[in-house]
Amino acid sequence: MFSGKIPILHAILSHSRKVRAAYHVPGHKMGRGLPGEIGAMLGAAGRLDLTEIPGLDDLHAPEGAILQAQRLAAEAFGAEETWFLVNGSTAGNLAMIMAAVKPGQQILVPRNLHKSVLNGLILAQAQPVFYNPDLDARYGIASGVDPETIREAVREHPEAKAVFVVSPTYHGICSDLAAIAQIAHEAGMLLLVDEAHGAHFAFHEDLPPTAMESGADLAVQSTHKTLGALTQSSMLHAQGERVDRVRLRKRLQLVQSTSPSYLLLASLDAARHQMATEGRHRFGKAMQALRDGVDRVRRELPDLELLTDAGKYRVDPLKWTIRVDRLGISGVQAYELLHERELVTLELADPRNVLAVFTYADTPLQVNRLVDALGRLASEGKGQNASDKVHANEQTGHAEQVLPFAREPFLLPPTPVMAVLPYEAFERESEPVALAEAAGRVAAETVIPYPPGIPVLVPGEVWTDEMVKYVQQLREAGVRFQGVEDTALRTVHVLT
Ligand SMILES: Cc1ncc(COP(=O)(O)O)c(C=O)c1O
Repeated sequence: MFSGKIPILHAILSHSRKVRAAYHVPGHKMGRGLPGEIGAMLGAAGRLDLTEIPGLDDLHAPEGAILQAQRLAAEAFGAEETWFLVNGSTAGNLAMIMAAVKPGQQILVPRNLHKSVLNGLILAQAQPVFYNPDLDARYGIASGVDPETIREAVREHPEAKAVFVVSPTYHGICSDLAAIAQIAHEAGMLLLVDEAHGAHFAFHEDLPPTAMESGADLAVQSTHKTLGALTQSSMLHAQGERVDRVRLRKRLQLVQSTSPSYLLLASLDAARHQMATEGRHRFGKAMQALRDGVDRVRRELPDLELLTDAGKYRVDPLKWTIRVDRLGISGVQAYELLHERELVTLELADPRNVLAVFTYADTPLQVNRLVDALGRLASEGKGQNASDKVHANEQTGHAEQVLPFAREPFLLPPTPVMAVLPYEAFERESEPVALAEAAGRVAAETVIPYPPGIPVLVPGEVWTDEMVKYVQQLREAGVRFQGVEDTALRTVHVLT
């Protein structure tokens, strides 16, 4: 009944068929004892929620089904070696950074890093040297990183051990990784790529090249984000001789559970199999539907702008960054209206834009549904909804802030000065101060507008007036924050 090799899935299915009784964890005993609702919801999957027992291999020392599945994945994703991750790309980023740099060593990192990268820097006790990606002024978002920026950073910091790049960005903007790999390698540095949003690139020639194809030493991908694996399931890929793989394996053991979920592992295995067998066909169809959708948006919705071209950077055609502020509403408002009135939930919103993520699972139906909803938003947004919002906000005193704010260019202030390293700030005593009074103080916490989850200030950096104002604007636009004790951001923690 099995078509093709899906070793982990086949191992758990075969175990669950032949086993007579289970005297091992997990406590629900192959689904029998699961709480009613969960048991009903999981159905047959409850019986497959197993952990490391004979025949099912060991994630931390694989020699059976997991090893085979990881080898098949390496082949499918174009790597020499692949590790399955049950704690997301978060675990991959932590392990990758800890493997590449030792305490006190430098690593070049982009400002638009995900918080897991920052956490990796703290755990590794590394010294980050920040560089800035280009900015797309039309959309007010981070774009790609120019290889010249990396060349410059490498020249200024020749002792750095690695270059870390996020590509694609959350919005699907891709950097020229081949050029960056060459610069990093010529300088004797590793290239580590956070490819969390690009797990699908290997499966169609019209998609941008993968980090592995481009020569990266390590790349982490959230298989759960753009392919069919269950949430949290990700992969770390490696190639070449530059990375000490023994060191890397030890770091992976630090950040991964000793009881990995076999449902997650099997889903990685099956997602790889699905892509290897039908990926190209399904991405081909999804991308055709999206090209037709782009044509419709251009024809029918002239007030919306769709990011399909980021100048010299390639854009993943499966991501739609939709600029809505010309409707007189912010991206955050558009997101809420689409969610509440249209029952259409997008991936994220910022002051100007909303982001829709498409995958191989989408068809013309889903594309058209979104274009239809955007059409209603566009006609109502300019009239009834927008004026409702303005009126409502006028009553609460926010009208002046919301609409003009969405129309203003909205760019991150210059990178603040780092007074102490992030891991030192993480360890030191801190106290809360009112946000308005934070300028001049050293941040003790990371300030992360969420989504997209990219820190604007990291521990150890000095608050500036500009940064205080920027964060206040985000707060007033309804953006939520992570990384901070006071999520309403009335106060922020600074070093005492
Ligand atoms: C750029 C980037 N890197 C890493 C991650 C972490 O991935 P995961 O959620 O798989 O842990 C994310 C998650 O949103 C991300 O956007």
